[in-house]
Amino acid sequence: MLKGKVAIVTASTRGIGYSCVETLAKAGARVYMACRNLERGAEKAAALNAQGYDVKTVYFEAYDKESILKMIDTVVENEGRIDILVNNFGGTSPVNDKTIFDTDYETFAKYIDVHLSTVFLASQAAIKKAMAAQKSGAIINIGSVAGITPDMSQTAYGTSKAAIIHLSKMISVHAAALNVTCNVVCPGMTATEAVKNNLTPAFQEFFLKHTPIRRMGEPQEIADAVLYFATAPFTTGQVLAVHGGFGIPTPVYGDMLNMKNKR
Ligand SMILES: NC(=O)c1ccc[n+]([C@@H]2O[C@H](COP(=O)([O-])OP(=O)(O)OC[C@H]3O[C@@H](n4cnc5c(N)ncnc54)[C@H](OP(=O)(O)O)[C@@H]3O)[C@@H](O)[C@H]2O)c1
Repeated sequence: MLKGKVAIVTASTRGIGYSCVETLAKAGARVYMACRNLERGAEKAAALNAQGYDVKTVYFEAYDKESILKMIDTVVENEGRIDILVNNFGGTSPVNDKTIFDTDYETFAKYIDVHLSTVFLASQAAIKKAMAAQKSGAIINIGSVAGITPDMSQTAYGTSKAAIIHLSKMISVHAAALNVTCNVVCPGMTATEAVKNNLTPAFQEFFLKHTPIRRMGEPQEIADAVLYFATAPFTTGQVLAVHGGFGIPTPVYGDMLNMKNKR
C-alpha cells in the first residue's frame, strides 16, 4: 500500500509513535524513527528490519529546534522525498502543568512552545523542502482529547493540543493546492507504558466510567487511524478522536452505570 513512500514519525521509540512506525512499515513504507535516544531507536529499528521491514533512525530532540530542521534535511538528503510526516511528540508534567491558579508562566510557555514549534517547524520544512516539489504528501498530527474537552488540569498541554488542531486545519487549507493533506488524530486514554505506570488505578477507573467503550485504547488503534490519513489523499483538515466515546454521553452517564434500575 505504501511501497516506495518515505515516512517520518517523531518521538517513536515507544508508545503510540512506535506503533505508527510498525504500522507504516508493515504497509510498505520506508520509515524514519525520529528519536532523541538513537541507541534505543537503532535497537527497535534493527528488530523491525530483521522481520523484513525498512526502518531507519534520525535524530530528533523536541526541545532543540535545530534538530527538527536537521531531521527534515537529513531525510530529504537521503531519500529526495518525504511522503508522510507524523508529528507524534507530546507530553507534559502533571506536577507543574496544572490549573490556571497553580501553573506558572514559564511552564505554560514551555509546553505551548514545544508542542507548537515541533508541529510548525517540521511541517513547514517538510512541505517546502519535499512535498511542494512532489505535489503530494500527508501530514498527520497527534492531538489529544485534552485539546477537545478541557481537562481538570494540564492547562498548557490542553491548550497546545487545541492549537495543534487549528494549526493543522490552517496547514490543510494552505497546502491543499500542492496536494498535501493535514489531519489530526486525537487519542483518548491509551495504554502506553507511561499511562499504565503513572496513573493510579483509581484515576483510571474514574476516567473509564466516562468512556462508553469501557477500556483504554491500544497504541495500535491510534496507529490504524494514522494509517488511514496516510492513505487518504481526498481527506484533509479533519480531526478524528479515537477515544472509545469519551465525553460523548450525558455527564450523568458515569453515575448511572452503577444504578440497578436506570429508568
Ligand atoms: N497515551 C495517551 O493516553 C495519550 C492520550 C492523548 C494524547 N496522547 C499523545 O500521543 C502522543 C504519544 O504519546 P505516548 O503516550 O505514546 O507517549 P509515551 O509512551 O510517553 O512515549 C514517549 C516517546 O516520546 C519520546 N520523547 C519524549 N520526550 C522527548 C523529547 N524531548 N524529544 C524527543 N522525543 C521525546 C520518548 O523517547 P525516549 O525513548 O527517548 O524517552 C518516547 O519515544 C503524544 O503527542 C501525546 O500527547 C497520548
